Amino acid sequence: MTKTNTPIIIVNFKTYSEATGSKALQLAKNCEKISLEAEIRVGVAPQLVDLKQIVKAVSIPVFAQHMDPIKPGSSTGHVLPESIKEAGASGTLINHSERRIKLADIDTTITRAREVGLTSLVCTNNSAVSAAVASLKPDMIAIEPPELIGTGISVSKAKPEIVSGTVELVNRINPDLVVLCGAGITTGEDVAAALRLGTKGVLVASGVVKAQNSYNVLSEFAEATARA
Ligand code: G3P
Repeated sequence: MTKTNTPIIIVNFKTYSEATGSKALQLAKNCEKISLEAEIRVGVAPQLVDLKQIVKAVSIPVFAQHMDPIKPGSSTGHVLPESIKEAGASGTLINHSERRIKLADIDTTITRAREVGLTSLVCTNNSAVSAAVASLKPDMIAIEPPELIGTGISVSKAKPEIVSGTVELVNRINPDLVVLCGAGITTGEDVAAALRLGTKGVLVASGVVKAQNSYNVLSEFAEATARA
């Protein structure tokens, strides 16, 4: 299992045009700048096509947004774990709400990530699924209630009991598991609340990607993280 330094802020670029191609590169550089200035851990999850150029340009952890539990061979259109590793990524998101897979495939994908040396970050939609995934021993999970994704209404403020309940449940099953939360995170206070609830960081998208000034938002997140 890969050891993850925490707290960590991971920015999911999704398929936003503000985080595609050259804009993805600029955003990744801003994330790196904040990480170095504030001495906090910041990771990015760009689109696959942008992965390699970002890995080359920054020294922060870079995650794929998805990979398939396949072996090298005849799987046209799939994402091979070995190619993510060779591109220089540190890890991969698995089972994001916008890219769901079956539990059996989550299991195999975690295993493949471990085989090739990638950190596995599995997204979950509720406490029960989080508990099921915890027993599969990924490196990290991120609890993200789908109804709050992209709303600007923070899970750590709107549904604190889901976050703290998940942390407690998951820790009983697998105490080594790093738990993050995500959905609607937009302010430093949202990040601070997430950490107070027992998480080790956040997975965030629109609050950073679509911000007028992503650097300022990330600074606010970094300050909140340092204070926690
Ligand atoms: O993966 C992060 C995510 O789904 C949360 O999205 O836009 O609510 O920060 P957002």
